[in-house]
Amino acid sequence: MARQEIEVTINGKLYQEWVEPRMLLSDFIREVCGLTGTHIGCEHGVCGACTIVFDGAAVRSCLLFVVQANGCEIQTVEGLSKDGEMSSLQKNFSECHGLQCGFCTAGILMATTDFLEKNSDPSTREIKEMLSGHLCRCTGYDGIVKAVEKTIEENKTGTAKELIR
Ligand code: FES
Ligand code: FES
Repeated sequence: MARQEIEVTINGKLYQEWVEPRMLLSDFIREVCGLTGTHIGCEHGVCGACTIVFDGAAVRSCLLFVVQANGCEIQTVEGLSKDGEMSSLQKNFSECHGLQCGFCTAGILMATTDFLEKNSDPSTREIKEMLSGHLCRCTGYDGIVKAVEKTIEENKTGTAKELIR
């Protein structure tokens, strides 16, 4: 299959590559860009592990071909920390036991980032609805909900470094 040239910005860095049109975006992110924080579970849009923020919306990178990302801006979990410091959301996942094996975590962090940027004060029910698109086999979700709620609370009281980044 003839290769195509694409340009895509990931975490602020421009990648210009020749790719096969059939290559999945999730494979491009991991194998070509070396950003292995994005995990691949089911590879058919069910588990949510591969979620990234794509032009301002949380999407499943296993459901897109990389050629569809030509000219687009992407954020992956590697883009959440700054200068080696975890974001408030990441810190709270750690403090509230929002992860165990961590396989689902990057996808949940990215979906939550997008979710809170669009609604900075969701109800617990809304948080749970958002999380219902993500499979976690370890935590029972309680710690994840607590981490999200703690981040929202810190943002309200001004003790967070930032809401989400
Ligand atoms: S690997 Fe993409 S949704 Fe499961
Ligand atoms: S922490 Fe293991 S799958 Fe979620």
